[in-house]
Amino acid sequence: MTTDKPTTTNPDPLIFTGHDSPDTYSAIPSAGQLPATQIHQMLQQQWGEALLQRLHVIGRTAAALGTPAYLVGGCVRDFLQNRPAPDIDLAIEGDVRAVAEACSTEPSGVQCTYHPHFGTAILQYPDGFQLDLARCRIEHYPAPAALPEVQPGDIQTDLIRRDFTINAMAISLDPEKFGDFLDPYGGRMDLQRRLLRVLHPLSFLDDPTRILRGLRFAVRFQLQLETGTRGLLEGALTQDIFARLSGARLWRELKYLLELSDLPAALEELDAWQLWPLLRPTRPELEALLAQIQRGQQEINWFHYHFPDENLCDTAVLLTILWRDSPWAAAEKRLHYWPLAGGRHILSDLHLLSEMPVALAKASHPSAVARLWESLSLPGILALLAEYPETGAITESGHYYLLKQRGLTSPLNGKDLQAMGLAPGPQLGKVLRRLHDARLDGEIEDKETARQWLIRQGILPSIQP
Ligand code: CTP
Repeated sequence: MTTDKPTTTNPDPLIFTGHDSPDTYSAIPSAGQLPATQIHQMLQQQWGEALLQRLHVIGRTAAALGTPAYLVGGCVRDFLQNRPAPDIDLAIEGDVRAVAEACSTEPSGVQCTYHPHFGTAILQYPDGFQLDLARCRIEHYPAPAALPEVQPGDIQTDLIRRDFTINAMAISLDPEKFGDFLDPYGGRMDLQRRLLRVLHPLSFLDDPTRILRGLRFAVRFQLQLETGTRGLLEGALTQDIFARLSGARLWRELKYLLELSDLPAALEELDAWQLWPLLRPTRPELEALLAQIQRGQQEINWFHYHFPDENLCDTAVLLTILWRDSPWAAAEKRLHYWPLAGGRHILSDLHLLSEMPVALAKASHPSAVARLWESLSLPGILALLAEYPETGAITESGHYYLLKQRGLTSPLNGKDLQAMGLAPGPQLGKVLRRLHDARLDGEIEDKETARQWLIRQGILPSIQP
């Protein structure tokens, strides 16, 4: 993985300040004690007094019910790095429903939704803010890559069931010890050293999705695989652990990966972790592929800018780019297992794309060019543009088609033509298609110019009744 040089003098060699804003990393409190008072102060500074008070209420309510509550997982990790936490997860040592319902009876307008199947609850505050509650649990994996069997546990067992040390930290909300920091596996030190470390040797075999989760964390937080964890990754790959994972679970993780804004960095990491077989049969020529991926992302952004209300499957664009130089059957095999809407279009595009540049160069009329673009799906068009410079004939042609020609239709429809005396049948279909081409070529604009064009072509008599 590429790393930038540190930009500021770093007073603490354990605190890496080489990527992103130096403030982000120097925010991780340095090794040693992290007293509850300091956590309290940091929570107030980062998350604000209102949220802090909400956490106090939950902590008090849970304690009154004899079921201690903790902040846990990704939000603690993000908090220690002074990064905004997208979701705030609470772990409850006991009856989640009772705590959630007790919190929602406070005269604060808090709504509670309990999901009995998962034993989780959501607290929804009047300002739209929400907190996720789950019961502390023990997980047992009956077989490699199988879904875990779950039973209630305490915070210690809840932390050890987790994927990485950086995600296995908690903060107590109990009024007696609010702000107590639980870090039994050294997650904070690993964050400071920028290391990604699993909690136990079977972690990747139990749940291979953790490999791809880990890769995402490595990219998001610029982490290196800790040596032992690298060995476990290699062992899991030797055992072909992903073969045991369902296509749906694998695709879910790959999709998250493809959605990372820093996808080129993620693919470099994928290369370093030797995970290409998940996406394609062979290792690509990396530099060229990354350049195309970046161009693809530019084209995706271009499209969203010009067509903000239109749906585009961004991942279909990226997969098409990733599979352009692979055997078609390899893409087909993957799409057979992955629940990806639009997979059929990717396969059809992969067939057509190789012919496109020559065909486009040969096309003599704007309508012929438009028909070629039209043969591709939207993601296929953007994937082709990604193979060419931002300014150049092919990109211009593709953009022109998308902006000007894509929505054009014939100004006269079948009914109009029949009203003008043309008989229904295949001949009528041909006329409609010629009218559409004439529109694409800019020869007609509206019904009147279309009618005159039909007369000029000898399709309608010059004098109409
Ligand atoms: N977790 C795990 N193994 C998994 C999935 C999740 O151990 N296969 C645990 C991790 O401790 C993680 C927590 O469940 O922190 C919540 O998972 P999730 O919400 O998916 O991730 P976050 O860590 O919260 O990170 P993100 O910012 O991506 O939401």
